[in-house]
Amino acid sequence: MYQTIILGSILLITLYVLKRSRDPNLKLPPLVHYKIPIIGHTLSYMFNCEEFFKQCRKEYGDIFSLYLWGQVTTFVGKDHSYEVFARDDAFDFSEEFRRRVPGDAMFKNINGFGDPKYNAKVVREYISNKLGLYTERMQKSLYSATKKYIGDCDDDRTIYNFSYLMAKIISTPIANIFIGEEEAKYDEIITTFAEFTTDVAIFFAIPPILDFIFPGLQDYVNRIPIKLGLYNPATKHRDILVKHIKNQVDKRLREKQKYGDSWKRPNDLLQDFMEEQDFDPNNINYAAMADKLCIFIFASVHTTSRSCANAVMDLASRPEYMQELYEEQLEIHKKANENDILPFEALNEMKKLDSFIRESFRLTGDIAALPHLVLKDYTFSNGLQVQKDHVVDIYFNDVYQDESSQGPNPNLFEPFRHLNKNSSASKVSKNFIVFGGGKHACPGRFFAVNEIKFFMHNAILKYNFRTESGKIENKLRLGPITFPSTSGIIFERRFK
Ligand code: HEM
Repeated sequence: MYQTIILGSILLITLYVLKRSRDPNLKLPPLVHYKIPIIGHTLSYMFNCEEFFKQCRKEYGDIFSLYLWGQVTTFVGKDHSYEVFARDDAFDFSEEFRRRVPGDAMFKNINGFGDPKYNAKVVREYISNKLGLYTERMQKSLYSATKKYIGDCDDDRTIYNFSYLMAKIISTPIANIFIGEEEAKYDEIITTFAEFTTDVAIFFAIPPILDFIFPGLQDYVNRIPIKLGLYNPATKHRDILVKHIKNQVDKRLREKQKYGDSWKRPNDLLQDFMEEQDFDPNNINYAAMADKLCIFIFASVHTTSRSCANAVMDLASRPEYMQELYEEQLEIHKKANENDILPFEALNEMKKLDSFIRESFRLTGDIAALPHLVLKDYTFSNGLQVQKDHVVDIYFNDVYQDESSQGPNPNLFEPFRHLNKNSSASKVSKNFIVFGGGKHACPGRFFAVNEIKFFMHNAILKYNFRTESGKIENKLRLGPITFPSTSGIIFERRFK
């Protein structure tokens, strides 16, 4: 018994020393001092992240390393974070993401999360380049979903956990544009779009406690139930998607055959997939098509709905800005047709709303996000070095709390601080990194911002909304990341 404990302790200490070992030839970032071996900085990171990071920044400078979950991770502040985005030969976000989320195990009909270059190309060519074409459908779906999920609110309605409803509302136009108008009418499709990401998120919601023993052990263990076929959170959603994709693909092939040149081509992502070179109508792999669609659902739904829920809560928390935003939307609404549909160009006129949304993005509250894998030894412009296979994360809050780049009182929510500054809500820069930056900056950001603007435009015209508490509601925090508040929002119809 004692021998086992002693041997186990020796093994743990050896692993700890090995994992902490640092290449003496490189000028590595300073490792912040810590008191508890093995646990390192994990507790401060999880429970006091904001203050802890501020302290580290003050004492150790723009680039520092922390010992978290059994591994050393480097955090890069405002002065050097853009190097991480710009140097994609040295830093890779999607590679690190793949190491953390077992896409290969969840989407076994394709190569995990697929080829990142192809994914970015799909979003650029099949979605972002066609936004004008999708404007009307986007608005119609958003407005009908708003009516369905928020309702008329003739009597005041208090909604708790608004982000759950938001995911359903945002899923409606996304499903319409991804899988087509006909299938997007089914509730089970909207539920799959809305819940897919939260269901598979279980893999990164599990704290990587086993990584204290060995880096990557938690990930290995997480994959076991999937590999053994015992549990896969993606399966139920894939089955629903397969059913609807099959329905739609077969119908389209039949109708194209029947009507020939007079066949009206549907415009959506599914049709674009069907026209790719490797699509063989005589040998269709529906499961692979469903897996491919899941990648884009994963990238688009939760990101957009979280941001939109934050924007709603930010406005509900500050009803004093409602009238100004309302007047802008009322003016723009004069351009709408008899079905309340705005032309694409109207988005450019929502200037105050755009600034409000950018401010909401800016103050999302994530302290650090976007871990990148280091692909080769790299020297930052200040001379500090990181070695291959190390992980470098971005210290977001340092960027957003910097007065010289964000303007006075960077910690305050000032909805119109971006007005007339040539900095729209989708514009990335060194000072605005919610969509990343450089060559890999999110290609879906125009789509996401358009959806949020159309949703907010309609919601502001239709309802007055405010927090039930009458106060500013703070976001929920898990370590360095935030989630929209679940507190009540009161919606009341403007004109009864
Ligand atoms: C508010 C909503 C969104 C946010 C906050 C967001 C954020 C991000 C971020 C931070 C990145 C990493 C960028 C980098 O590596 O520098 C990214 C990449 C990506 N996003 Fe988004 N995103 C959003 C919406 C969308 C939507 C709607 C789509 C698809 C329609 C999408 C598709 C992608 C893809 C394919 C990539 C990988 C790009 C690459 O590797 O080159 N995103 N997004």
